[in-house]
Amino acid sequence: MNTRSEALRVLLGNWRGYNTVPAPDLYPHQWSWDSAFIAIGTRHLSPLRAQRELESLFGAQWDDGRVPHIVFDPATPDEGYFPGPSFWNSKSVTGPGVAATSGIVQPPVHALAAWEVFQSDPDTAQRRRFLQRLYPKLVAWHEYLRCRRDLGGAGLVSIVHPWESGMDNSPAWDPALARVRPVSMRRYRRRDLDHADASQRPTDEDYGRYVRLVETYRDSGYADRPEVHEFAVEDPLTNALLAASEEAMAGIADEVGAPAAPHLAELARLREAMVARLFSGGLFHPFDVRSGELTEVGSVAGLVPLVVPDLPVAEELIATATGPRFRAGELGVVPSFDLTDERFDPARYWRGPAWFNIGWLIRRGLLTHGASKLAEVLRSGYLEVAERAGFREYADPHRATGLGAHRFAWTAALTLDLIE
Ligand code: DGY
Repeated sequence: MNTRSEALRVLLGNWRGYNTVPAPDLYPHQWSWDSAFIAIGTRHLSPLRAQRELESLFGAQWDDGRVPHIVFDPATPDEGYFPGPSFWNSKSVTGPGVAATSGIVQPPVHALAAWEVFQSDPDTAQRRRFLQRLYPKLVAWHEYLRCRRDLGGAGLVSIVHPWESGMDNSPAWDPALARVRPVSMRRYRRRDLDHADASQRPTDEDYGRYVRLVETYRDSGYADRPEVHEFAVEDPLTNALLAASEEAMAGIADEVGAPAAPHLAELARLREAMVARLFSGGLFHPFDVRSGELTEVGSVAGLVPLVVPDLPVAEELIATATGPRFRAGELGVVPSFDLTDERFDPARYWRGPAWFNIGWLIRRGLLTHGASKLAEVLRSGYLEVAERAGFREYADPHRATGLGAHRFAWTAALTLDLIE
């Protein structure tokens, strides 16, 4: 197959006029961090379309600055996906006339994406005042995370639902999730299993807990008081992407005539807080705010801080990435979970399979820290998976077989970006 034209075909097929659906069956609406990764690839197809992708997402931003993790398609709001708008009931907070959305967030990779999109075609972006419009929204988004989500008091962002990490069923969440009482399956119907193999998805028990956490947050009116949240975890990936996005914000600020220094100061502050609080044994780990403990498991989220410039522990992270726990140099891809841990499962979602967005981020971090040879190994490794398996949601890291959804948009988008 011609990988480039197939990738374009997926992006064109999933485009819905203002945004791109991650996968037509399994994820038929707009997802927050998906849109950011999709924009990074779509800029090679049409910079204008990439700008629209990000702007349509920020069109659904809440007054408090949060960028919801799902923006529902107004034509088919309650179809095909659970939990839909009636479950989230977000309009009780945002008011009518606003897009129906979820009430949780996803990792803040948007400023980084906006900066990449801008750089691919500064002329069109300037003509459309793309950065001028987006910058205040990005500022409000980061402020929401910084001010409303510092639930642990250490200057780091807490996620309040595993879905907010983007890595829903990572074993990293098992201890914190075990304290949450699952909702009975009789009270809802999973729609994901209509479209995906159950052995490659989170378990029913996981789902019952996800639903409980949504209900509690929703019933509090999406309040971010610490006592509302049974699950509150400082996630290394979320904080690393916020730091990397602050670097991008400095570039954006320069372009729009705003001061860049506060963004660079914020980047430095986050970097320091992350290293002090989350780094241990060659890897970053989530800090469980409820138990007051670091959850020392080998999630690939712990390698993502490589995207933070001038990270003082970059060499240790690269050693972990290439060592027995992830074997990135031999496999050419990075498994989502520690290969040496008995919970590693090569097929189940975030408990082992390799994902393109994570490979893309780690490759970027390797380039940032001068490890260009390993970066190239990952670039060709992921391209090989795309050529062999097509644009699947994730892949078995050993056999490079495709798993999860087909025609997965960020896989196509980031493949395109790796080719260009
Ligand atoms: C899902 O529905 O599987 C998503 O990961 C939640 O956003």
